[in-house]
Amino acid sequence: MRLCVIGCGYVGLVTGACLAEAGHEVFCTDIDADRINKLNEGGVPIYERHLGQILQSARKARRISFTSNAGEAIRAAKAIFICVGTPPKESGEADLSAIDHCARQIAVEADSPKLVIEKSTVPARTGLELTRALRAYGRSSDAHFRVASNPEFLREGTAVDDFFHPDRIVVGVEEQSSVEELREIYTPILERRFHCPTHNGSCPAGPRGEFLVTTINSAELIKHASNSFLALKISYANVIADLCERIGADVEEVTHAMGLDPRIGGQFLKAGLGFGGFCFPKDVQAFVHLAASVGVDFDILKAAERVNKERIDRFMEKVHKALWVVKGKHVALLGLAFKANTDDVRFAPALEVLKRLLVEGASVHASDPEAIGRTKALFPDVHYHDDPYSALQKADVALVCTEWEEYKKLDWARAGKTMARKLIVDGRNLYSPASIRALGFEYDSFGRS
Ligand code: UGA
Repeated sequence: MRLCVIGCGYVGLVTGACLAEAGHEVFCTDIDADRINKLNEGGVPIYERHLGQILQSARKARRISFTSNAGEAIRAAKAIFICVGTPPKESGEADLSAIDHCARQIAVEADSPKLVIEKSTVPARTGLELTRALRAYGRSSDAHFRVASNPEFLREGTAVDDFFHPDRIVVGVEEQSSVEELREIYTPILERRFHCPTHNGSCPAGPRGEFLVTTINSAELIKHASNSFLALKISYANVIADLCERIGADVEEVTHAMGLDPRIGGQFLKAGLGFGGFCFPKDVQAFVHLAASVGVDFDILKAAERVNKERIDRFMEKVHKALWVVKGKHVALLGLAFKANTDDVRFAPALEVLKRLLVEGASVHASDPEAIGRTKALFPDVHYHDDPYSALQKADVALVCTEWEEYKKLDWARAGKTMARKLIVDGRNLYSPASIRALGFEYDSFGRS
């Protein structure tokens, strides 16, 4: 099918590239002309595993193209995916101006019937407004619009894998014809008719994703409800960690045992510096805001948000306790990205820590496998090291802020020989306290007294 993707951020690019790899013809567009130029020159503007590979294969098969001319892309396609950003406003409410802009653009440019699919994360009832805007601004009597919601559940760092191996594909629709069209779009994914870059073409047998048909309002709610629940789970684990510290228990033992209960599940119970990124913090805020706007008080989510913000305070308390005076200390900061396998530093807990260290006058030596470039633009006055061992030389303390595999495997015996003081404050509980202490380190982490 001929598809259009509006917005070439990580969701748009992964959606476009994966659907092209699955056999569709995809026309991508973005208002950022530099981004389109880069894509046309064969570049990949974001770091996302396997994305470069599938983009290259789709380009080679001439199944994907990029243009700044949105009208051209809109007219070429039968179905249009809206993948633009919905950043938070000061109030926490989602800023839907980019969605509104897309609606007007589609309405004005379309000259034939279109299925308009919201993929961006939006509050419930956005579909209704989108339908209204498309009708209000439509110019051509030949253009009839149907709206659908198809939330994405892609995690940065594993987005391509998530797209190709979904546990569910949710489609919120108003008309049966939209279900059929969306099923046609996703059939190659559900039937695994694509070249899988993760499994080099042959995915292991296992449960296939479920294709769920709902109303548009439900589909929109499913996305916010899922992200907010996961955020809630993380904050819950973090409060358990605080409790473990006071009581003298080990949070890893507690959450591991909890997670073995299939009703709870072991994922997203990792205590530490808390959640960041461009999804959880903003989605929690937007969900609280949406609930309040219809008279529902989502106190439990507000608490999750507060607990998450306080993780930075808890971490800094540990840093102060260990270092006494921070001013003038050489601090090695390991990890800048909001989580491993991404270069994204938006709402990254590590950057909150970095800010506080700078305010207190520490000399910060930061390292990250992917996120130095993006951080440098925000904090030019920090010493950056591609090699973590170089950041650790002469350091008074190592602060671990992102759960990179590289850091789990770090040779601390080697690093310890070059540090001014053998001290680690681990914000992601990466190491076994006993083995690190056996190397002669002072060590603190979350929830392991
Ligand atoms: C999240 C969801 O997991 C995706 O399903 C969703 O599609 C996406 O948001 C989105 O809305 O687009 P993502 O933001 O990429 O994906 O990151 P996660 O892997 O969910 O991690 C979020 C944060 O939670 C990270 O800062 C991570 O370090 C932290 N985290 C995660 C914990 O602190 N503890 C855990 O146990 C798990």
